[in-house]
Amino acid sequence: MKIEKLFPLGGPVPEEDIVDRENFLNSLTTRLLGGQSITLAGPRRIGKTSLALEVLRRLKKEGCYTAFVDLFRISDRRGFALSLIDACLENRTGITKTASELIKNIKNIAGSASLALKLRDLEIDFRLLERDRDEDRLLDYALDLPDVLAGKEKKQMVVVFDEFQEASRIAGREIYKKMRAHFQMHQNVSYLFLGSKEDLMKNIFATSKQAFYRFALTLPIPPIPEDAWTEYIAGKFDSAGFGIDEDSIREIVKLTGGHPQDTMIVCSEVYHSLLETFEKKLSLETVRIGYERALHALSPLFDRIIDEINENPHSARVLKRIARRERVYSRKERPNNIKRAIDFLMAKGIIEKSGRGVYKFTEPMLQEYILRQLS
Ligand SMILES: Nc1ncnc2c1ncn2[C@@H]1O[C@H](COP(=O)(O)OP(=O)(O)O)[C@@H](O)[C@H]1O
Ligand SMILES: [Mg+2]
Repeated sequence: MKIEKLFPLGGPVPEEDIVDRENFLNSLTTRLLGGQSITLAGPRRIGKTSLALEVLRRLKKEGCYTAFVDLFRISDRRGFALSLIDACLENRTGITKTASELIKNIKNIAGSASLALKLRDLEIDFRLLERDRDEDRLLDYALDLPDVLAGKEKKQMVVVFDEFQEASRIAGREIYKKMRAHFQMHQNVSYLFLGSKEDLMKNIFATSKQAFYRFALTLPIPPIPEDAWTEYIAGKFDSAGFGIDEDSIREIVKLTGGHPQDTMIVCSEVYHSLLETFEKKLSLETVRIGYERALHALSPLFDRIIDEINENPHSARVLKRIARRERVYSRKERPNNIKRAIDFLMAKGIIEKSGRGVYKFTEPMLQEYILRQLS
């Protein structure tokens, strides 16, 4: 028997595994088509990249040009410029690395002829693409290419920058001003900015001192409702030939709080323990086993998050209290320090407000992990 990967883990999820979010996807697609630029900020592993890629698939079907640039993978200005150029030109040439093809062919005029012909109207200075040329000119060219391309084709274009907060690491803080200066002139392009460092993203988009102030609308990413999860999970186990048990499925979603990646990991571990024990039906017992395995699988990641929080002693103390469901304010500490700790934890996406003065973990499995360390 071939054991298939029943639940998508790790990377962006394929269309058929995107749970719920239909309304949100619709709204994103329509706004971007209408020329509205958008920012989505939220912690890692909640499905930002998956959303963006699905939006691009839908926009493509509408005849839109699209480009996706992941800033996390880029190390310098030239790399940034070339990635954007490649992502833009792929719409025209159908190949992913047009720029390197062009560079390879600079000396081989015959080889480049057909490619160059396809790009003739875009006024690319091929020599600029080579290493050690004027990087600023290359970047300026790249930053305007989406609008030039879309204008020539009389198309709407949507450009996604994933992990946008990395731009300053790649090209220094002044890159935001530069980008804004280019993008605000663009008539045919809307931008979708994704970021996993909420505090940095806020800084880029929300404060008037920063260059992107009011350039894009910031939308909150809605949670995936419990019913959408249970329906999806039941369908998946059923499709793999397992008997469904409503209580067990509810238990999975209760344990994970519906957190996108955590829920997928638990489901996947439950699935594997079913296979290993030759059981044919979901049960609370297999859910318990799957949950423990998932917690174990997540521990390196959780340890990293905890290390980061421990660098800030107030935050570490406050987080422990939230984990134990105790009051966050204590007489022994200055309210200001606690307030700052809460802001820090919220900015990191670790906790969210659930009432007046009440906070909860965005990821119940992290809460459980911390509680176990405390006991
Ligand atoms: N809408 C969704 N439905 C189901 N699972 C999801 C969804 N979005 C994300 N996931 C799960 O979360 C993981 C991380 O998704 P990803 O889009 O890479 O998140 P991000 O970009 O926010 O880090 C996916 O591999 C998948 O397991
Ligand atoms: Mg991502």
